[in-house]
Amino acid sequence: METKLIELRGVSKAYDVAAGKFLALKDVDIIGAGEFVAVVGKSGSGKSTLINMITGIDSPTSGEIFVATTPVHNLDQEQLAVWRGRNVGVVFQFFQLLPTLTVSENIILPMDFCGVIPARERKERAFALLEKVGIVEQADKLLRIYRVDSLAGGDGARAGE
Ligand SMILES: Nc1ncnc2c1ncn2[C@@H]1O[C@H](COP(=O)(O)OP(=O)(O)OP(=O)(O)O)[C@@H](O)[C@H]1O
Ligand SMILES: [Mg+2]
Repeated sequence: METKLIELRGVSKAYDVAAGKFLALKDVDIIGAGEFVAVVGKSGSGKSTLINMITGIDSPTSGEIFVATTPVHNLDQEQLAVWRGRNVGVVFQFFQLLPTLTVSENIILPMDFCGVIPARERKERAFALLEKVGIVEQADKLLRIYRVDSLAGGDGARAGE
């Protein structure tokens, strides 16, 4: 039987707004396995909301979300933190990196939280990952100096954020 990596069943998300409820996702069904998927849509169409549901960063108002058979919608905050740390990687729209840490320290920080990689291997792994993407020479720079945020695209960049 085919293993479904991501499965959403009837997922809806309503935000509380001043005027009442704003329905950002309505009854979304997705089944995905062995695919590389790009979600495309105009600003405000719900892409980030959808990603936040799949990654357990936010919870749906109704519906079910399974990622590699894990019922993400049923996990409590503590379980979500552990599951996310071990299984999910997200490049956020506005990065969410810590400006007071260096580039390599930002990579090591989640390894410290998850405890999957032994402590003595974390630094080496961070440098190997940076090497892989061709920016190992930036490893010891503070993010606020490297200005990773200046590489952002999308609406934030257009607004000069
Ligand atoms: N926390 C929130 N409270 C209220 N409304 C929200 C909240 N987050 C998102 N929305 C609304 O839900 C809709 C979907 O927003 P979302 O951020 O998912 O869109 P997006 O497709 O990621 O947009 P962009 O391309 O600008 O990143 C928008 O109308 C947005 O204003
Ligand atoms: Mg977005």
